[in-house]
Amino acid sequence: MILIICGSPRGDRSISLKTAQAIAEYAGEPYELVTPGSTHIEPCRGCMSCFATGHCAYEDEDDLRAVIDKMLRARAVILACPVYAGGVTGQLKILIDRLSTQCHTMPLLGCIGITVTTADSNHVQYVDDYLAEVLGFWGALTAARVRITKTSSSLTAEEAGTILKNALLADSCVPVSEQLRSSFAAASKRYRALYRMKDVIPNLVGEATVWFDEYGNGRSENIEEIIKSRKSERR
Ligand SMILES: Cc1cc2nc3c(=O)[nH]c(=O)nc-3n(C[C@H](O)[C@H](O)[C@H](O)COP(=O)(O)O)c2cc1C
Repeated sequence: MILIICGSPRGDRSISLKTAQAIAEYAGEPYELVTPGSTHIEPCRGCMSCFATGHCAYEDEDDLRAVIDKMLRARAVILACPVYAGGVTGQLKILIDRLSTQCHTMPLLGCIGITVTTADSNHVQYVDDYLAEVLGFWGALTAARVRITKTSSSLTAEEAGTILKNALLADSCVPVSEQLRSSFAAASKRYRALYRMKDVIPNLVGEATVWFDEYGNGRSENIEEIIKSRKSERR
């Protein structure tokens, strides 16, 4: 399954959404859609409890858990957003903020990422860089980045869909960027140390528990091995 997360509030009229859907269709996989603007996702309240426990204290009060469950099942995530006032839309940023634990614990290891950024004319590179950064926080391997303005396009949907299709093949391996490799190594070291303390300070090692027990990212310190094993679990 391909998960499309689209920050545009314009529903079926959205160029970002239409492009992401076309990419999924060219990749030949079914997709599920999350549009933060029409999903019940409350803004982060800054209570900080997720840093300690690994879970948002309010995740049962809206649709956050359902979004996380889709991320864990996805073989690919297409993160699509229009540029609004030089940045991502507020709707998408609210969701990203609520996924703070996921920004630290790489739920998308073994998953392919694609960015789609649309704009009339400006800040498209800046926003696309941010979307790629977020996919990296979540642990995805970004295989293609589509930037569309009124006058240019970095890739067509067909080109990006073909790249995605090839990346999803069982034996294919998208190269791991140096940034993802070093983020993984740092997180692995930090959570390994914390996890040893879980019986002593259970309420302070939540992210380490998510890393090891929920996502299985502690099975190896070799990122290629983790990507391979988590890729094989995704449907
Ligand atoms: C509130 C708002 C702010 C926008 N800000 C920018 C901007 O800073 N730069 C830009 O090039 N386009 C800007 N646009 C244009 C959209 O990024 C552009 O039309 C985009 O393709 C819309 O994507 P969508 O069809 O997926 O919603 C803005 C549009 C809106 C509604």
